[in-house]
Amino acid sequence: ATLQDVPEAAPHSQPAGPAPSKDVTILFGSQTGNGQGLAEDLSQKLKAQDYNVTLSSMDDFKTNTLKKVENLFVIVSTHGEGDPPDNALSFYEFLNGRRAPKLENLKFSVLSLGDTSYEFFCQTGKDFDKRLEELGGERLYERVDCDVDFDESAEEWFEGIISALNKTQKDVASNPQVETPEYSATAVQSNYSRTNPFHAELLENLRLNGRGSNKETRHLELSLEGSNLQFEPGDSVGIYPENDPELVNKLIDEMSWNPDEEIVINKKGERRSLRDALQSTYEITVLTKPLLEKAAPLSDNNKLHELVKEGNEEELKDYIYGRDLVDLGRDFSPWNVPADEFVSILRKIPPRLYSIASSATANPEEVHLTIGTVRYDAHGRERTGVCSGQCAERAELGDTLPVYIQRNPNFKLPEDPETPIIMIGPGTGAAPFRSFMEEREEIEAEGKSWMFFGEQHFTTDFLYQVEWQRWLKEGVLTKMDVAFSRDTEEKVYVQHRMLEKSQEFYKWLMDGAVVYVCGDEQYMASDVHDAMKTIIQQEGGMNEQEADTYLEDLQQQKRYQRDVY
Ligand code: 2AM
Repeated sequence: ATLQDVPEAAPHSQPAGPAPSKDVTILFGSQTGNGQGLAEDLSQKLKAQDYNVTLSSMDDFKTNTLKKVENLFVIVSTHGEGDPPDNALSFYEFLNGRRAPKLENLKFSVLSLGDTSYEFFCQTGKDFDKRLEELGGERLYERVDCDVDFDESAEEWFEGIISALNKTQKDVASNPQVETPEYSATAVQSNYSRTNPFHAELLENLRLNGRGSNKETRHLELSLEGSNLQFEPGDSVGIYPENDPELVNKLIDEMSWNPDEEIVINKKGERRSLRDALQSTYEITVLTKPLLEKAAPLSDNNKLHELVKEGNEEELKDYIYGRDLVDLGRDFSPWNVPADEFVSILRKIPPRLYSIASSATANPEEVHLTIGTVRYDAHGRERTGVCSGQCAERAELGDTLPVYIQRNPNFKLPEDPETPIIMIGPGTGAAPFRSFMEEREEIEAEGKSWMFFGEQHFTTDFLYQVEWQRWLKEGVLTKMDVAFSRDTEEKVYVQHRMLEKSQEFYKWLMDGAVVYVCGDEQYMASDVHDAMKTIIQQEGGMNEQEADTYLEDLQQQKRYQRDVY
């Protein structure tokens, strides 16, 4: 039964069961920190209503206390092919394993974060929701699945769960509730956040690759002066990008819209000209299945009606791949809909996250980024990444970019500066390790460090070459191995270098080294994982299963941390 079905209690009747609990547990699991940010917001809101909140990352949560939890809110994102994020994995496996407890006293609700452009949209959240019910929990409020522009949906979930929770508290609800503001005893709080970004001035914008390179990797320096924004090595910056004005023009022409028409862009009723809204607010470069389904009734073109019909999923998938809104507009005209209605089905442009490449200790009030420009040809047109394209083609010194800091507690230098570290970061994956080195140099850390870097060509693509060499010379960096994949007949990658140094790599592990991997998730990170497994089997005399367990333990002890994308 839903809560709405429960008859109102008579005014003076005693509650039947034990008094409803004011204890609430919030568990989050996410790769980028969005989940944690939302969990912290929710915690604040609940504390302001006098709830006792336990807030924890899933991997820090003591699973043997789960049975005692009465109110559980889960905020979790989904990765890759419907997989849980790294810091949700152990809890996910615990719940789905044979040792999972019965949870008859549990009330719960799930907020899942995802992206409708992936097939297994919000799968991890769906799994948790289903499993908690199977274990006997009562769903306090329906799960909400968020797309990349999650703010409004998350806000609705917050309101929904808090009001459902308050309903369970009827007997105490008549007590006036005092709002207790949170005071932070630590550092100065910044007024800027993901929902209120800081406009950071661009101080530097350089191309790192030499002439003739296939790559266009840029080094940006942004000013954080006056923002009070704090960050540590391992954190990221979120940038709210703008669409290419030329692409916006193409779309407006294609649809025969009036660019000066004013439209409403959010639930607060803020208005913008159509041109501004398409440039700064709405995503026009990605097509998703839900978008096409919403667009179909607005088009008079039968081809689109066919495409979204059941049974045509494969064709639809083929169509949306590599296409954007300009293609959609052209391919399925005539459109029979006013601009504001069409625009209302679009997602908001999500911010792009970049691992920070500098240390605030070494470069106060600044943040440096390493951004790979995304360019490709698809369906007869050259396409560019929204944010990387803006940085490469339009962002000029003195311009400002709306930014915020995304904390990443899952990618942190060891607290003890004497702990050895191994850094594996080919391509733009080198960024956080530049930050690590700057920090360790500044604090005169004594711990050993070993960097693995890879790129296509030594002469054009050795990102930050001069800096690595200086750190090596000065002993800030102990060892460096490089793999230039296209300088030799046979490709060499970072994992090949690791395997060549297998014995030493294992010795570093035995000495307590923390291993960091940053960069491409799909291929590099899993190949590097396999290489580590091989090293452990070979040098530690373990079988495959033992090596898997060893790596899981490393992960659990936060001695194997990944920032992959
Ligand atoms: P490639 O482009 O020659 O294939 C940074 O992009 C570097 O990572 C490049 O040298 C690139 O090589 C390499 N790379 C590509 N796939 C990889 C993988 N699966 N593992 C490790 N490095 C990879």
